[in-house]
Amino acid sequence: MLVLGIETSCDESSAALVASGGEVLSCVVASQIDLHRDYGGVVPEIAARAHVESIAAVVSEALAASAERPGLVAVTAGPGLVGSLIVGVSAAKALSWAWGVPLVAVNHLVAHAFAPLLEGSLPAFPFLALVVSGGHTLLAEVRALDDIEVLGQTRDDAVGEAYDKVAKFLGLGYPGGPVIDRIARDGNPRAIEFPRAMMNSGDYDFSLSGLKTAVIRYMARVEAEGRNRPSNADVAASFQAAALEVLVKKTTSAALGRGLSDVVIGGGVACNSALRESMARACAEQGLRLVHTSRALCTDNAAMVAAVGGLWYGQGYTWGLDADVYPNLRMGERVPGASRAG
Ligand code: KG4
Ligand code: ZN
Repeated sequence: MLVLGIETSCDESSAALVASGGEVLSCVVASQIDLHRDYGGVVPEIAARAHVESIAAVVSEALAASAERPGLVAVTAGPGLVGSLIVGVSAAKALSWAWGVPLVAVNHLVAHAFAPLLEGSLPAFPFLALVVSGGHTLLAEVRALDDIEVLGQTRDDAVGEAYDKVAKFLGLGYPGGPVIDRIARDGNPRAIEFPRAMMNSGDYDFSLSGLKTAVIRYMARVEAEGRNRPSNADVAASFQAAALEVLVKKTTSAALGRGLSDVVIGGGVACNSALRESMARACAEQGLRLVHTSRALCTDNAAMVAAVGGLWYGQGYTWGLDADVYPNLRMGERVPGASRAG
């Protein structure tokens, strides 16, 4: 059976056709980056309108990969921007009704944790998931599709948000993550000692807004004292080193503390080359197995939504045409309104 996945929780309109075994026949992603660039961040109203304009073409392109009609429609119902979510869920309901096939509503954060399914690399349960994106920074113990415990999360900004804000401040453009990743390679990560917030807090929570403020204050102080401005490469590398050191340390201590030997990292920031390298090194040192998917499966995409939709359906769950959107859905929460067969 083929599953059509639809994802519109933030600023990417995506549709994918995935076979029950996890094979991705198509995964189309229409990015809205150009529309939000001038604002240095996603503007919810613009995002929702752009989804309305692109969703039909994105779905048609994904469907063109096979002559077979999907037997299931899976859609992200939360968390995310309310207007954006409504577009995807409405499209999914319309197709489910028109084709007479079941509908499954998916939690976007769970989909990030399960993305390795599409590459045949999902570890056996239980495993640790680190989800790091523009909207989320969290560690969770995944014991089953329906049994996920959040161990810790950010108390303020998400790590991707910190990247985007620091890049904006340095005038590097939007989205900031990929730019900082690139220029930091030529910088010295020890040039400036930025704070490692909550490094030894004894829990698995994070705080990133202080780091962003520290970068801004440091640059203001350099200017006020008439010193030479450090290169953007050094600032980017030093900022990144501070952010990533805490992420890596808390991830390995959570895995060891909970007795979990497998670690999955997902979300847009999991594309970051320094994070991938330092996490791989730290996991190897601690005897932990690390799974990261290809970069295209780390950022928002509908293939991961289709994969998780297939799992719910396999367990007998479906959602009706009254399925709603849940902008504040928490990691591990099943989308409300399911019915279960048998
Ligand atoms: O998961 P995602 O595509 O969308 C959300 O659900 O938020 O993540 C987008 C975030 C943005 O903040 C972007 O700057 C960040 O991921 N990002 C990166 C990199 N690529 C994307 N951050 C650091 N390094 C990267 N290479
Ligand atoms: Zn995401």
